[in-house]
Amino acid sequence: MTSSEELKQAAAQAAAQRVQSGMVVGLGTGSTAAFAVSALAQRMRKEGLQFIGVPTSERTAEQARSLGIPLATLEEQPRLDLAIDGADEIEVGSLNLIKGAGGALLREKLVEASAAELIIIADASKKVAQLGTRFPVPVEVVRFGWKTTLARVEALGCQAELRRTADGDPYLTDEQHYILDCQFGPIADPAKLAEQLKATVGVVEHGLFIGMATEAIIAGPEGIETLRRP
Ligand code: A5P
Repeated sequence: MTSSEELKQAAAQAAAQRVQSGMVVGLGTGSTAAFAVSALAQRMRKEGLQFIGVPTSERTAEQARSLGIPLATLEEQPRLDLAIDGADEIEVGSLNLIKGAGGALLREKLVEASAAELIIIADASKKVAQLGTRFPVPVEVVRFGWKTTLARVEALGCQAELRRTADGDPYLTDEQHYILDCQFGPIADPAKLAEQLKATVGVVEHGLFIGMATEAIIAGPEGIETLRRP
């Protein structure tokens, strides 16, 4: 049987094939995106592929640097040809996403909103009929007054919990914010919820990625399927 790690790697390798020399590429965060970063480094070494990476987290920047991938900031490269990233849930049909279980949603959204194409890579367990089925929606909030922000977010119809590290300390994002993991259950209108979250005082960003993914490369035991946004 194919393990989920092998499936993630297969999807990542397929996406890495889409990068051409001269491109500026957004490098996502998480275990699947890490396979894509490795696959790109391998193409660099073996085929002489030349590209510039824009990392979506300190973690990814560290991995890419260790593999010798040339990096730029979003300020230096504000227009990206392509971004490759994982997701926590992929809604079949719309390709709307929940992202942020890895804590990098804010930088991911900033980088990926600047990319001409966003390819999502995943194993088949990430496909859902409706967002909110399996994962909470991560919501990044400023630390000041976070409990009042949590109450405002809960008033939108969820149960919210402050994300903590294994030591029990509040988890801090690369931008030094907190994350609230919000259980909404199945979300009937993700675009509306995205607007409501964005309009909530204290919220910096949320993990609903609406209309951003152009394609999803999903690896399952039967092979790789490519879904394109309608
Ligand atoms: C990181 O903040 C997330 O948006 C990731 O893209 C997401 O959690 C997927 O991670 P895995 O590839 O590790 O499942």
